[in-house]
Amino acid sequence: MQYFQIIGGQPLSGEVAVSGSKNAALPIMAASILAEGPVRLERVPRLTDVETLSLVLGELGVAVRRDEDDSSLWIETVDHNPVHADYELVRRMRASFCVLGPLLARRGRAVVSLPGGCNIGTRPVDLHLAGLEALGASIRLEAGYVYAETSRLVGATVPMSGPFGPSVTGTANLLSAAVLAKGQTVITSAAREPEIADLGEFLIAMGAEIIGLGTSTIEIHGVDGLSAVGYQVIPDRIEAATLLTAAAITGGQATVRDAKPAHLTAVLQVLSDMGADVHAVGDTVTIKLQRRPRPVHLTAQPYPGVPTDLQSQLMALAALADGESVVTDAVFPDRFLHAAELNRLGARIQRRGSTATINGVDRLTGTTVMASDLRASAALLLAGLAARGETIVNRIYHLDRGYERLDEKLAGLGAQIRRCETDQRESTLPSRVASQPDDVRSA
Ligand code: UD1
Repeated sequence: MQYFQIIGGQPLSGEVAVSGSKNAALPIMAASILAEGPVRLERVPRLTDVETLSLVLGELGVAVRRDEDDSSLWIETVDHNPVHADYELVRRMRASFCVLGPLLARRGRAVVSLPGGCNIGTRPVDLHLAGLEALGASIRLEAGYVYAETSRLVGATVPMSGPFGPSVTGTANLLSAAVLAKGQTVITSAAREPEIADLGEFLIAMGAEIIGLGTSTIEIHGVDGLSAVGYQVIPDRIEAATLLTAAAITGGQATVRDAKPAHLTAVLQVLSDMGADVHAVGDTVTIKLQRRPRPVHLTAQPYPGVPTDLQSQLMALAALADGESVVTDAVFPDRFLHAAELNRLGARIQRRGSTATINGVDRLTGTTVMASDLRASAALLLAGLAARGETIVNRIYHLDRGYERLDEKLAGLGAQIRRCETDQRESTLPSRVASQPDDVRSA
């Protein structure tokens, strides 16, 4: 198993490019099931999650091939008959559930494993299922699988709001089902995330009729078929903000290019409130923070709010602030496993319910920590970059699910970070314990 060894204390500096968005690429890949002909997707990041979805699609008769010259994927249906998405793959990555809507719309039937919970919460899919039922699908749950069927979906008004706001992948499933439904569908309380707007733009490029993308009411006029298309995925706003926060936490300066600053408004405001100089010009953002961060009060919320996917990284920065910060997660109220690991590095974080109070310290000290999920691993990396001495971050397969070469990008900015392989022979644990399989599910 791999881990990172980080020697902290080096201010980052330089320029770095952002990869394509994971959370846009995944539902777009799933929606490629709808196309009549080959789809070419550009700027698809090389990630374990993309590989996992490629395997799911492969089992569904959809061939996925990467052009090694660039970062594009070719996706083409070679067999329209399979409809089964197996537990073994879906449990590894929840976004696999995004094949449900496209399968139902294009093939009339889908048997998709329920994803189950993960390290950041219970994560139900009731909104996905209620939405598809509202479009006329018959749905039953049996032995951990969703069995869905329809002769043809029929447009309806479908609310997408749950107790923690709109569901992002729920909106993706509904949107990619409704484009082939008969008549008009209106998704109310829809997710406004740029990744959903990107999925919508992809569907429009294939011939779908959609208005209201980026707002909470999306109107879809069903069409009879969607054609093959080439499409470029948007830049990853979470990666961009993670890199900016990395520069800030080390007291350095960096320019992130190929970004879309308009998607980063809330987080740039937070970084600026914390004392960073932030400048966005065209598709670049430059940050500089050469003093101790100021404390912050923030709540992670659905877009256009501060994303829950950046809550842990911003908490790492707040751990070094000059005073008390308060961070609440209104989307995933249980997403705080990173707090205890940050405390192992010397942070002073106390969680109560969906809120953490962070008493800033003037330095963190390196030690061994364990990543619990994708974004938590990024937070630990950032804290390690700022900590004195050596930090070891274990279970970095979580990071590789959703960040393309983050360690190499950070090293390019001057970070001392090394990817190492655990030598099982050196483990002091009995091999039976040392080789226990790790958890793999998270956002
Ligand atoms: C997506 C993102 C993930 C991000 C999250 C919130 C992808 C692939 N993943 O996950 O990175 O952290 O949005 O921005 O895009 N909920 C329900 N019922 C449902 C569905 C969700 O109650 O049917 C709840 C969830 O438990 C959670 C909240 O709604 O509390 C938001 O979840 P959701 O937007 O569905 O997250 P994902 O789409 O799974």
